[in-house]
Parts: sequence; C-alpha cells; structure tokens
Amino acid sequence: MIRAVRTVPFLPLGGLFEQDDIDACQRVMANATLPEGGFFPLPEEEQFQTAFARHEGAKKCVAVNSCGTALDLCMMALNIGPRDEVIVPPLTFVCTATCVTARGAKVVFADIDPRTLCLDPEAVEAKITARTKAIIPVHFAGFACDIGAFEALSRKYHVATVYDAAHAVGAKYQGQPIGGAGKASCYSFQSNKNITTLGEGGAVTSTDEALAEVIRQKKTFGYVYGSPLRVVTVGFNYRLTKLQLAVGLTQLAKAERIISLRRERFLRMQELLGDVEELILPAGIGAAHACHLYVVRLDTRKVSFSRDALVKELKEHFGVQTSLHYPAVWSWEAFRSIDHDRANCANAERACKEVISLPIFPRTPLEDLEYIKESLAGAIQALRN
Ligand SMILES: Cc1ncc(COP(=O)(O)O)c(C=O)c1O
Repeated sequence: MIRAVRTVPFLPLGGLFEQDDIDACQRVMANATLPEGGFFPLPEEEQFQTAFARHEGAKKCVAVNSCGTALDLCMMALNIGPRDEVIVPPLTFVCTATCVTARGAKVVFADIDPRTLCLDPEAVEAKITARTKAIIPVHFAGFACDIGAFEALSRKYHVATVYDAAHAVGAKYQGQPIGGAGKASCYSFQSNKNITTLGEGGAVTSTDEALAEVIRQKKTFGYVYGSPLRVVTVGFNYRLTKLQLAVGLTQLAKAERIISLRRERFLRMQELLGDVEELILPAGIGAAHACHLYVVRLDTRKVSFSRDALVKELKEHFGVQTSLHYPAVWSWEAFRSIDHDRANCANAERACKEVISLPIFPRTPLEDLEYIKESLAGAIQALRN
C-alpha cells in the first residue's frame, strides 16, 4: 500500500547546532573587531587538541582541516612510498585508499567481516607480504573494529596500523576510547559527522609523540616555532581556523549528548525493523557504538529486486531519502588506472550492493522512525508484487 508522501530527508548536518555554538562564533568575531584583535594567535587550537586527545584516550591530537588530510599526513609521516603496499577495506570512503595511491604505493584490498562490516583481521593477514607497510582499518559506521587483532598483526609483521576513525568520535573498544590505538587514528568533523567544525575539519590522534610531532610540523609548513623560527620538513597549511576550533570545543563538550540522542534512535530502529526479514540489521548498536550511520542491508539472497530499486521506491513513493555508504572503492572510475589488488573480497562485494544508510540524526522525531519502518516494509512489499 502506498502511503501519502511526506519527506524524511537525509540531512547534510549530523551534529547539533545550538546557542552555545552561535555564542562561540560571536565571541571570536567580536574579539576580531577589537584594535588588538584578529584571527591569530590560536589558543583555541591547543585547547581543542588537549580536549580531543583526552576525549579519545590519546596522548596527542593534531587538529587538521579534514580526515582526508589526516590520512594523507599519516601516510607521509610513516614514509609510505613506491614499492610499499597498504591494506584497506573495499567498503569505505574513497580517501581511505587514495591516501595510499597519493604516496605512489599499492592499494591492497582485504575482505570485511560481514557481521560488523569492518576489515576482517584474518583476511588482512592473508594479504600481508614483505612489502606491506601499513593497514588502515575503518571503524565502520561508528562501530570499533577488532583493534586487539590488528595490534597483534602489527607486532607480528612489523606493520603500522592507522585507523580511519572518520565515523567514530565517541566509539569505545573494550570500554575504552579508541584514539590511542595503533600508530594513529584519523577523525572527521565534516558536516554530517557526529561533531562538526563548521562543515569541514579533522584530527589525528596518537600515543606516539614523535610521530605526532612530525604530523604537527607537516600540517604547518614544516615549522618548529622558536627564535629563530625553523622549517625542518616539507610541510603544508592544513590548519583549522579560529572560528572552527572555537566551535570544535562547544561541539566536543556535548558529544556524549549528541551520540546518546543518536543511540536512542538507532536502538528504536532496531526494535522496529526486527520483523522485516528481508533486511539485515547492523550489529553492535549499544553503549560502545558511536552511532554515526545506521546502515541496514537488503538481503539479496531473499529477494529478486536490487538495493537500488528499493532506494528508488523509498524515495519516489514514500519520500524517504537514504544514502549509500559506500560503493566499493575500486568501482570509482579513477581505480581503472590505479594499481590495486581486489582478490578474495566476496563479503565486501556483496555488502557494497546491499547497504542502505537510513536518515536518522540526533533530532529525527521518533514518529519518523515509525514512518521509515512502514515505508521500508511497504516498499519491499510493492517490489515483491
Ligand atoms: C570512512 C571515511 N574516511 C574518511 C572520510 C573523509 O573525511 P573528510 O570529509 O573529513 O575528509 C570520510 C568522509 O565521509 C569517511 O566516511
């Protein structure tokens, strides 16, 4: 049965913007108008980095202008280069892989665990060669991947692990924040993430102080401050602005509230969708999950229509907008000319054709969740007939 259409949008804003964020912006702007004002120096940078490192359980944090930048800087700081191989999952945003290509190294895809949709440590081990220099697991959708197993592989084969934590502000692994794991973790504060620094932003966290210092230098022209100022490495300008850092502080102060609003909605959706047998629901939605994306899978073994048909039906007949996280990285046209290995990734091949991200955000009204459930069930029914 097709219901009256209303629109449930997939919002381009994942966090909560409130009066405290507006006040923070106004303070920065008001100070900038004073005779001694301006947009430098940046005491907010140190404040934010200290607060974020503490929040994520790391010794150091370097704030940068995106998670893509954070991954690029980690690859540079680890001296990844031609002849090296780096193992990544196929089910991720493209830059988890292109940060490798950008250094002239080879992208090696390993399969995912079909339950968690995170990189599978056993599949990774099967792809390790003498040339493997790093592994980049993704904490997919906000669920912490198997950090213990990756750390064991790191020690056994002397490869670095850099975590793509774009989705994972606030995620926990064995009760602890994830930002101190491996060599480094790379976070995103882009607009639809759990917290955002005015649309763009990111950070590297690490417990390796020497590595964090190289990343800090490369983020700011290779500078070591002092008298005289020194340039000690090839660097760039990947800084956040004062305005972004000030809002980063207000966002971080309410990160737990944002995540618990998300979690409440994710748990309710789990309950509502429990009887839709054509869907595979996400695993691990609980206290440890950062609840960034609510990703269901259309079980294509149980139906004769495609995920894309369901997405179209949902949008056109029910007004429910969804998103897709993600097509397989190798399916982007750039990968036709990028050196990569995609063998033995059957779980990822299937998942990439089945995943659908539902429009659930901190402010999604609870009645919208019921509408989303009815729409999914209705769309599946319509496509079955
Ligand atoms: C898994 C993953 N890694 C990296 C990124 C890149 O983040 P940013 O937009 O901050 O560069 C994203 C962005 O959505 C992502 O989903």
